[in-house]
Amino acid sequence: MKISDQETLDHSGPQFSRDDRSRHGIWAFQQMVLSYYEQHGRDMAWRNTTDSYLILVSEIMLQQTQVERVTTKFPEFIRAFPDFATLAAAPLGEVLTVWQGMGYNRRAISLQKCAIRVINEYNGILPADVDILATFPGIGRATASSIAAFAFNMPVVFIETNIRRVFIHFFFTETGTVSDAEILPLVEKVLYRKNPRIWYWALMDLGSALKKTVANPNRRSVHYTRQSPFEGSDRKIRGALLKIVLKDPFLEEEEIIGRVAEDPHRLRRILGALEADGFIQRKDNGFVPAE
Ligand code: ADE
Repeated sequence: MKISDQETLDHSGPQFSRDDRSRHGIWAFQQMVLSYYEQHGRDMAWRNTTDSYLILVSEIMLQQTQVERVTTKFPEFIRAFPDFATLAAAPLGEVLTVWQGMGYNRRAISLQKCAIRVINEYNGILPADVDILATFPGIGRATASSIAAFAFNMPVVFIETNIRRVFIHFFFTETGTVSDAEILPLVEKVLYRKNPRIWYWALMDLGSALKKTVANPNRRSVHYTRQSPFEGSDRKIRGALLKIVLKDPFLEEEEIIGRVAEDPHRLRRILGALEADGFIQRKDNGFVPAE
């Protein structure tokens, strides 16, 4: 996909001002976004379903992992855990094993807790309600809203990183920072209420394409943070240690530490954090995946 092929997009700069709130301005913006989607929309497995379980899994995966990696992991995960009941009943170690490669493993624990809650409290049916979804483990307002849009086609108003990029690029001509509080009223104003599901797919795809073609407009967001480099990070070491415990349960601390070329003090601290966060637990002098 090459956004530069697009005639409808002018990359020289923002096309719509915040004051351009006439019906024509809204209509023109909607047409531009929807026609972008018609020509360049991405096909993704989780877009070919309205099964709320599959959409919940994909949205949690997409929170912090790039689409390419989710594209390979998602089918594997749903093959192993095809529905809320299977995921709720699975040993956590198995869930974490299948999750490997995704990073940010806390999400796997949250996802299983969500499944348990759906089974125990909601009769196996994910509630179509943003306020309720936002109380679920690992689900903030943005994820609750994206689930509401994609699973239930609800006209919710929300921002995530790609959506933010679109609005900053097209509506905020001035330099200086932009807060989500300034963007949200516009998101509501231009929402294509006929089909929120397609509308938000389109915004996300356009925002993702803008990332590759213009200097990232999100730098101007007050909510902008760079993701810390993975190499040499605690996050990478956490993943390496967890992988060892999943593969070889009951190893003692010193054996685990001996397998990773890093400062032992740092490794002990990170092992302790994995234990405190509920990924692993001590058993018979060693570490095993948490139950
Ligand atoms: N399609 C559906 N949900 C998505 C997401 N969170 N990011 C990108 N594309 C998506």
